Amino acid sequence: MTRIAVLRAEGDARAAATPDTVSRMKKLGLDICVEAGAGRRAGFPDAAYEEAGARVTGNALDGADAALVVEPPLGPLPRGLALIGLLDPYGAEERIRGWAESGIDAYAMELAPRITRAQSMDVLSSQANLAGYKAVIDAAHAYGRAFPMMMTAAGTVPPAKVFVMGAGVAGLQAIATARRLGAVVSATDVRFAAKEQVESLGASFVTADIEAMKAMEGEGGYAKEASDDFRKKQAEHVKGHLAKMDVVITTALIPGRPAPKLIMADMLEGMKTGSVVVDLAAPRGGNVEGEREGVTILRPKNILEGLPGEASNLYARNLLSFLTLIFDEEKGALEPEAGDEIVRGVQLTRDGTVVHPQFGGQAERPPEPAAEDGEGA
Ligand code: NAI
Repeated sequence: MTRIAVLRAEGDARAAATPDTVSRMKKLGLDICVEAGAGRRAGFPDAAYEEAGARVTGNALDGADAALVVEPPLGPLPRGLALIGLLDPYGAEERIRGWAESGIDAYAMELAPRITRAQSMDVLSSQANLAGYKAVIDAAHAYGRAFPMMMTAAGTVPPAKVFVMGAGVAGLQAIATARRLGAVVSATDVRFAAKEQVESLGASFVTADIEAMKAMEGEGGYAKEASDDFRKKQAEHVKGHLAKMDVVITTALIPGRPAPKLIMADMLEGMKTGSVVVDLAAPRGGNVEGEREGVTILRPKNILEGLPGEASNLYARNLLSFLTLIFDEEKGALEPEAGDEIVRGVQLTRDGTVVHPQFGGQAERPPEPAAEDGEGA
């Protein structure tokens, strides 16, 4: 019987499986071993996993065919193991080579392609969505004033002005959340397609040059690095806008690179005293540079630590979807198809070699299949 280990994360409160996904994996015909304490910080005690049909042990890797993780594991792993989860592959070529050398087949779920078929496995989206929500809640708490406009007999409370920089999955959820709280919301992004999405959520779109944006649309819906000229113009424009804001949420990322700097010291200088900035890109180097007295800047290392149960539910479902893709129920074995676009997208190492071309892989790869849509979300 194929055995799946669920490992406890040292540096993260999230769990890679929940009692719910354990019982679903059992139904697929998998044998589940959960490392003791794996779900404790996310609100899932060991007993709940046992009730769902898992064995809870100190050494879940013993005899395991695959391991589900929330972060790259540090300890030794058994040869032949399929390692599945957020593996933080960028800049980790050495660790990836190490996995290849020890015969680990590693699947970095953050690399899942943004195609319709992979949506249920899209860990970046499921987690970014919650992060965008939580950023607004944390900002509202730190702001110490009301978000909605209130007209009372004692006077009118003006609505908070919220500006969201980067309107991907996290940014769009931040916009929606801030709107629900009654704020007046504006947003910006380098992707032209974001304008319509921002406006459909009832926020206004802020840009210095819409024509330049049209020309910059990147592949697969991701942002390309913006040109110097556009960045200069945009920075000036945004600086003026920031001076009027009460709350700013930054979410801008470029896959595989440090986060772009969007708010520099001089821009902070112009901001209102009492305003709040939440830099969601902080774990990737941050969108905000410097500090300013009177402006609260939150730089959460892992904002989902504050929503660990919810984040685990979605993350565990993402991993379950991927397991379902690579598990052959008839054979009762993990049989990832090397040619599958999703498998190819996430697989770092296979049979002792690094196979992902972005991380030093040399393996011959089948031709790209006909384009699937990269839109959506
Ligand atoms: P992300 O987390 O990589 O980046 C966040 C946002 O920051 C992006 O919208 C990006 O354009 C923006 N950004 C980058 N540099 C910037 C700059 N200098 N100034 C302002 N904004 C900047 O993006 P995320 O959330 O992963 O989404 C990327 C795209 O993928 C979006 O178009 C999204 O709709 C699409 N998507 C498609 C899915 C599908 O299955 N079809 C699933 C999820 C996302």
